[in-house]
Amino acid sequence: MKAIVYDGPHSVKVDEVDDARIEGPQDAVIRITTTNICGSDLHMYEGRTDVEEGTVFGHENMGIVEAVGDAVERIEVGDRVSVPFNVACGTCRNCNAGWTSFCQRVNPNEGMVGSAYGYAMMGPWRGGQAEYMRVPWADFNLLRLPEGTDKEDDYTMLSDIFPTGYHGTEMAGVGPGDSVVVYGAGPVGLMAAHSAFLRGASRVWVADKEQDRLDLAAQIDAEPIDIADVDPVEFVLDATSGVGADCGVEAVGYQAHDHTGEEHPELVLDNLVNSVKVPGGIGVVGVYVPEDPGANGELAQEGRIPFQFGQFFTKGQAMGTGQAPVKRYNRQLRDLITAGRANPSWIVSHRVGLDEAPDAYERFDTRENGWTKVLLDPAA
Ligand SMILES: NC(=O)c1ccc[n+]([C@@H]2O[C@H](COP(=O)([O-])OP(=O)(O)OC[C@H]3O[C@@H](n4cnc5c(N)ncnc54)[C@H](O)[C@@H]3O)[C@@H](O)[C@H]2O)c1
Ligand SMILES: [Zn+2]
Ligand SMILES: [Zn+2]
Repeated sequence: MKAIVYDGPHSVKVDEVDDARIEGPQDAVIRITTTNICGSDLHMYEGRTDVEEGTVFGHENMGIVEAVGDAVERIEVGDRVSVPFNVACGTCRNCNAGWTSFCQRVNPNEGMVGSAYGYAMMGPWRGGQAEYMRVPWADFNLLRLPEGTDKEDDYTMLSDIFPTGYHGTEMAGVGPGDSVVVYGAGPVGLMAAHSAFLRGASRVWVADKEQDRLDLAAQIDAEPIDIADVDPVEFVLDATSGVGADCGVEAVGYQAHDHTGEEHPELVLDNLVNSVKVPGGIGVVGVYVPEDPGANGELAQEGRIPFQFGQFFTKGQAMGTGQAPVKRYNRQLRDLITAGRANPSWIVSHRVGLDEAPDAYERFDTRENGWTKVLLDPAA
């Protein structure tokens, strides 16, 4: 079958790989109908992880169940399903507590818990940017969707970024009437803004330097902050009589940079501490890593990010971090989409075939104007 594989820094290629197949009794094989390129894929694409060449990418997957193992009871061939990016066993302590993002049985790497399809350090699970993919513990992991092809571009956001953005607002404690500042207007930040409004936020600011992304934020009535023009901290403090936003969401990650493109891994954390009120909540869903050999500066290379912890403590703020446990939210968000109350597809900019993926990766990676969220369609 055809798949998108890593081919060294700044390169992916379309390759022939072994067909996905049932390997254990609890497996399913999915025929992919939509698989998205994610900002998380770019950390690997840019050579900022130790992912091996030949790895099949793709953790944002949905499709039709093609085959199931003997022990699969709930999911049936022909079901239309969303595949959460977290691979989870469903029976370990963390899975039982709802923390599928920290499943204790899926990641063989020393000291690591939690995993994902097609991702560096996240276990042996092959990605879904391909014609087919294998899903282990299918009954537990798969979310059934309404049959047919309706709202495909909305439901495809359920595998990762919509629940991830929502998780950012959950960790930040967003409730009715709250004001929320979101850093990063990439797909995850835009989903956090959408989620904040779904939870009843009164005002949402979204800070970035990419005008096309800020325009998308404005389309849902979030207030854009262009960090190339203004200091986002001053902007939010001015707008709140010096108090700060009730809640903040980090949707940028360890490659945070200033408007000139120079990386400062502590920049967004500092901005959050300084633009969220006393004592406000901060949800960090942008990824930070234990080691980053590609960083400029010794501390950052060791994964040490010297942000304003003293100010954070003094303000009595709370911070939540980590990979999102998609299963905690995907059913409810699916039902909001079905009911027409959530419409995450407004951020989709492109739907292209697998053959066009190498070009699409390059354009998305350089944040080329208008390349906000790329969906791959293996049947195209
Ligand atoms: N926690 C999770 O479960 C999870 C899941 C998916 C993605 N992620 C992570 O979320 C982050 C965002 O993902 P994405 O797909 O939106 O990525 P993206 O790279 O498309 O978007 C990031 C945005 O941040 C902006 N940015 C950079 N520096 C900034 C700054 N100082 N202030 C404000 N904005 C700044 C960039 O211009 C870009 O638009 C990534 O780190 C990704 O790995 C986490
Ligand atoms: Zn993703
Ligand atoms: Zn588990």
